Amino acid sequence: MFVEKISRSMRRGEHEFEHVPVLLEESLGLLEVENPGLFVDATLGLGGHSEAILAANADNRLIGIDQDRDALKAAGERLERFGSRVRLVHSNYSAVADVIDNSNWGSPDGILADLGVSSLQFDSAERGFSLRHDAELDMRMDAAADRPTAAELLATLDEAEIADIIYRYGEERASRKIARWIVNRRNEGRPVTTTLDLADLVKRAVRQGPNERTHPATRTFQALRIAVNNEFDNLERFLDGAVDVLADGGRLVVITFHSLEDRIVKQAFQRLSGKCSCPPRMPVCHCGAAKKVEILTRKPVLPGEQEMLRNSRSRSAKLRAALKRK
Ligand SMILES: C[S@@+](CC[C@H](N)C(=O)[O-])C[C@H]1O[C@@H](n2cnc3c(N)ncnc32)[C@H](O)[C@@H]1O
Ligand SMILES: [Zn+2]
Repeated sequence: MFVEKISRSMRRGEHEFEHVPVLLEESLGLLEVENPGLFVDATLGLGGHSEAILAANADNRLIGIDQDRDALKAAGERLERFGSRVRLVHSNYSAVADVIDNSNWGSPDGILADLGVSSLQFDSAERGFSLRHDAELDMRMDAAADRPTAAELLATLDEAEIADIIYRYGEERASRKIARWIVNRRNEGRPVTTTLDLADLVKRAVRQGPNERTHPATRTFQALRIAVNNEFDNLERFLDGAVDVLADGGRLVVITFHSLEDRIVKQAFQRLSGKCSCPPRMPVCHCGAAKKVEILTRKPVLPGEQEMLRNSRSRSAKLRAALKRK
């Protein structure tokens, strides 16, 4: 019921940046939020999932984490009515275990991560995430982080490193050509520093497939974002940290938006459920397999047709969940 109410209030556009939480009902069901407990939303964003978790039971408490201070501010306003049941923390979710230890609220019964960029980040032109708004190529989710921006990476990495990022994190077949063009521009004294400039360069470098509906620079933008935010290392650290701090019988739910992310979650869940991935003739296991969780989703949960129609962002979403063993 309340799921519907929340989606409806958001459809009315009460929030400045309209955002409908993805796979909401499925996440709430797997987290068992109707039972009173402590929950952690590791990717608070605009607080859509958090709001529903807090509304599901009057005794639920929630720790919301985000590395983006703008998100914390927006979600803070939205969740104000829940008072002392909510605590919001500015942190990277790779440090989820420390955040929870420092809260002194005990072990969480459920942890949720809804990965990727929030609509707040995507729609804020100056953050440089979108290839449709002209802006400096920034792409740092934590705008205050002492990390290089995407423009700085393109200005300093060598051609092979740029190609490697675009290939590995974007699965872009034309990665070498794009990297060569980027470095050529740099050598001509006209470095690529803005979103539209990069989008245009990639469009010219890549031949668009006849059935391709997305902009040809989408993969390159994804790759740069992953590199700028060190997303895969952080995700792996998050998954291990989350499993360690969960209460026995607690649940971990992770929503991903592309195949590379989903593969990381799938493989981490397998390792954490005790499946050894060492080569067959290894005398001892080196992959770190340990029976810490039971996988609750043999196959990833996908949005239903209705959700995909209602919310285009949900189309690539996949949810996986695990239960911490007693
Ligand atoms: C897709 S949004 C979450 C939307 C949210 N579930 C909602 O319903 O409003 C993802 C959020 O996760 C945050 N985020 C991504 N990676 C993070 C990390 N490593 N540590 C902390 N926050 C992160 C982003 O800043 C963004 O605000
Ligand atoms: Zn092994």
